[in-house]
Amino acid sequence: MDKIVINGGGRLEGEIRVFGAKNAALPILCASLLTDTPTTLRHVPQLSDVKTMGKLLRELGCQVEGERAVTIDPRGVAQGSLMAPYELVKTMRASVTVMGPLLARYGKAEISLPGGCAIGARPIDQHLRGLEALGAEIEMHHGYVELRAKRLRGARFVFDLVTVGGTQNVMMAATLARGTTRLENVAREPEVQDLAVVLNKMGARIRGAGTSVIEIEGVDNLTGIDHAILPDRIEAGTFAVAAAITKGDVLLRDAPVDHMHAVISKLEEAGVRCLVGPHGLRVIGPEVLQPIDVVTRPHPGFPTDMQAQMMVLATMADGQSMVTETIFENRFMHVPELCRLGANIQVNGNAAVIRGPTDYSGTTVMATDLRASASLVLAGLVAKGTTEVRRVYHLDRGYETIEKRLRPLGANIERIHGASS
Ligand code: EPZ
Repeated sequence: MDKIVINGGGRLEGEIRVFGAKNAALPILCASLLTDTPTTLRHVPQLSDVKTMGKLLRELGCQVEGERAVTIDPRGVAQGSLMAPYELVKTMRASVTVMGPLLARYGKAEISLPGGCAIGARPIDQHLRGLEALGAEIEMHHGYVELRAKRLRGARFVFDLVTVGGTQNVMMAATLARGTTRLENVAREPEVQDLAVVLNKMGARIRGAGTSVIEIEGVDNLTGIDHAILPDRIEAGTFAVAAAITKGDVLLRDAPVDHMHAVISKLEEAGVRCLVGPHGLRVIGPEVLQPIDVVTRPHPGFPTDMQAQMMVLATMADGQSMVTETIFENRFMHVPELCRLGANIQVNGNAAVIRGPTDYSGTTVMATDLRASASLVLAGLVAKGTTEVRRVYHLDRGYETIEKRLRPLGANIERIHGASS
């Protein structure tokens, strides 16, 4: 397993390009199962999760070619197994988002139940309730869920809670249902909006994406399209925190500023200067960071995927901050590792009290999940001495060659391949 070694202390200065969004690319790759003709996606991030999704699409019978520009030809799926096997679903939970497309286009889907993951139980009950409302017959056996429907029919469905994946799965299924579907209490994330843009380019008739009600008028078939994946607001937010805590001055080229208001306003509250320009977002870190209170919420609230990174900023602020996680039940696993680096963080249920500033000193730490590993890299950038982040396969799920991209900004950071775990 690789590890990343950082010698902290330098200011970050310069320009870094924001790559395509993992959480936009994954559902759009699933949407390519809905069409009768090939789809081409550009600006696809080179991430292990995207590679896993490509593997799943191939197992389902698709031809998948290319890396940065990916072409998916779904015409072999009809003869395929229509199954998402446990081995793939357990490595990447987003695999369950093939369920809606397979059911809608082929009338059947057999998906391994994802099981829990590091940050929480993450059930799929809302996905299943929504598909059942559209007429799916559902059976569970041996850890798999089997769905069947001759033709889905439009329905009105209200989600019990806001779920990004659930919204995407049911919205995709409804595009080929007979009649109109009205989904309420849906997720409003930019990646849900971008998926609706893609589906409408394919010939779907979707209105309201980005609001809490989405209406879908079913059509008989969809055709493949060419689409550029939107830049990653969470990667951009992560780099913004890196600039902020190192008193740096960094231009985040192509940062999707319109999708980052909650993060930008929290950075500004901490005293960070965020300058929106024609090429992206320029972030300038202050001499002294102010403490902040963060509560994660569904979009447009503060994103849970930025919680661990913003906690590192809070550890560097002069005073007491609080971070409350309301989306996932176990998303504080970065806290013990940050404390080993010298942070003062007390967790009480879903709230963490942080006292700063922190005089971080480098040591060996262990990545536990994707965004936790990003927070450990951030802390390493400001720690005295050497920080070794192990099990960086977690990091590689959501950040493409982060060490190569931070180095030109002045970070003293390198990857050691095949290190001991
Ligand atoms: C998406 O996961 C993202 N992943 C996550 O990003 C992100 O943290 C999450 O949305 C919330 O914004 C992708 O887009 C691939 P949810 P998803 O369904 O869709 C509960 C990252 O770091 N829930 O919105 O799986 C669930 O347990 C990843 O990039 C149910 O109870 O998240 C959670 O507590 C991590 N029943 C909450 O809802 C359901 O049927 C939100 O989950 C579905 C969800």
